[in-house]
Order: sequence, then structure tokens, then C-alpha cells
Amino acid sequence: MVWASGWRLASAVSNAGGLGLIGAGSMYPEVLQEHIQKCQQATNKPFGVNVPMLYPEIDRIIDIIIELGVQIVFTSAGNPKTWTAHLKEHGITVVHVVSSVKFAKKAQEAGVDAIVAEGFEAGGHNGRDETTTLVLIPAVKEKIGIPIIAAGGIATGRSMLAAMVLGADGVQIGSRFVASDEASSHDLFKQKVVEAGEGDTQLTLKELAPVRLIKNKFYHDVQKAYKDGASVEQLKELLGRARAKRGMFEGDMEEGELEIGQVSALIHEIKPAARILADILVEFEAAKTGMSEL
Ligand SMILES: Cc1cc2nc3c(=O)[nH]c(=O)nc-3n(C[C@H](O)[C@H](O)[C@H](O)COP(=O)(O)O)c2cc1C
Repeated sequence: MVWASGWRLASAVSNAGGLGLIGAGSMYPEVLQEHIQKCQQATNKPFGVNVPMLYPEIDRIIDIIIELGVQIVFTSAGNPKTWTAHLKEHGITVVHVVSSVKFAKKAQEAGVDAIVAEGFEAGGHNGRDETTTLVLIPAVKEKIGIPIIAAGGIATGRSMLAAMVLGADGVQIGSRFVASDEASSHDLFKQKVVEAGEGDTQLTLKELAPVRLIKNKFYHDVQKAYKDGASVEQLKELLGRARAKRGMFEGDMEEGELEIGQVSALIHEIKPAARILADILVEFEAAKTGMSEL
């Protein structure tokens, strides 16, 4: 996750038994290099790097990942055909993030090892079709033979179990880990996530890159621009540069872009990543036992 998942969070998740991911999307190549090296020192467990493929210096990013021996790459926001074969030639496991059956099929054709199927509830950039996790997972399961990792709206053991009942082989959890001690997000943003209730996020800016964010002043300025009939150019100008950094990393809760999922309504506490994972697994096991007793 941009501005949240540096080496601290990724290594904490991996050390606790999950698969931690470093979010390359907010890092210059040399910054990513440092985060990978620190993560390698902080854990001897597997971890991965998430690479949004629209990244301007993508070639350099991929070279660094290969040079440093990263074993797992999650690609998003782009065509899975572009990098999958190259990464796999270097023995890297490739997972691609999709928001529809159509893109899931394309990812499978491109030869990825697994897909993340991310529903409309999810925080951050998302698909235009508004397909919820509840519908997307079984729909993808019908058409795809490779492993499916469900994402969007999962922050508890019960929702993890639900995703697996729907056909997922694993889950990707985003928003819950923003409100963790180890996330590099600004403390004010973490607090905002804890305070967010149901209905406090919205998917917007579909004309640019659809993104789910908290309804703050920036969000309301965007809505006013829509009402006034803003063109795509005017929306781009309003968004400007570095809005996400300004909000999530620098702590500007009014003017910044605050990316988070609907599930923020169920996040009530900032916790260490290891406790988040442990609590989810305890609840998952209890829910599974409860189900088998029905
Ligand atoms: C702050 C934030 C930043 C994110 N950045 C990325 C990113 O750079 N690349 C990506 O593939 N997904 C990104 N995501 C999406 C997550 O990886 C994950 O799929 C999503 O958060 C799952 O839904 P949830 O928020 O309901 O848990 C981001 C999500 C959040 C909340």
C-alpha cells in the first residue's frame, strides 16, 4: 500500500506468519532498494513487493527486484502481459490484482501464478465496475483455474472465512494494516481510519483513476467540481500532484487524498501488525468451528 507498507510493516506481517508486501508505488527506485534490503535484514520469512505497473520508472524497479532476489511480486494497475514472463524467467512468483472476471482471464492468460480479486469495497485505486467482493470471488472462481486471493472488505476472521467459503484460497488485507503500529502512514491518518464509520468512504474520480477515499474537504471539493460540470482536465488540475502523500504520509486531513476501504467502519484500534494477524486467525478458527457445529 502506498505510503503505508514500507519494510517495517512488510517484515512485521511476514514475521507474524502472513506474506508482507512492500508497496513500491510510493517509492523512488533507490528508496525501494533500501526498503527491500532492510526487510531482508528484518525477516528471514518470504515477503513480496507490490508494483503498480503505471509507475514511470518501472524498468528500474523491476531490475532492483530481480537484483535483490525478491521471490514474490504482486503487479497491479496495468497489463499483466508486460512483465509476467520476464519476472517468471527469473524464478519470481507473480500475482496480479484484478477487479473483474474479464481482467482475471487476461491475467491467467498472461501466465500469472495467482490473482488478487479485489472488490469495490477496497481502499485505494479500484475498478470502475463496482463489483463487490461478495459477487466477484464466486464469479472469478467460475472462470479461473489458478489460485484466487480475495481482497476488499476483509479485516476480521469472519470476513476471511466468508471469502474462503466464496471460493478464495487466501485473502489480501489492506485497510486493517494501515491502522497498525508499523504502517508508515501519518498518525493523524491512522486515527482518522479508526474514527471512520459506515458511509464515510466513497469511490470517486472514475474519470481519472477510480479511488476509494475518506470524505474530507478534498473529496467535497471534487464533488463540487462534478456539480459544476468539471472536465477531465479540470479534475486533473484539482487533484494536482502528491495529494496522496500530502494526506496519508504528511497528515493533511483536509486537503490530502485519504485512501481507505469501507471496512474502516470495523477498525476500532491501532494495533501491532502481529496482533492484528493473531486476532484475525483466532476469530477465523472460532468462526470455522461455529460453522461446522451448525
Ligand atoms: C492506503 C492504501 C494504499 C494502497 N495502495 C495500493 C498499491 O499501491 N497497489 C495495490 O495493488 N493496491 C493498493 N491498495 C489496495 C490494497 O493492496 C488492498 O487490495 C485493499 O486495501 C484491500 O481492501 P481493504 O482495504 O478493504 O482491505 C491500497 C490500499 C490502501 C488502503
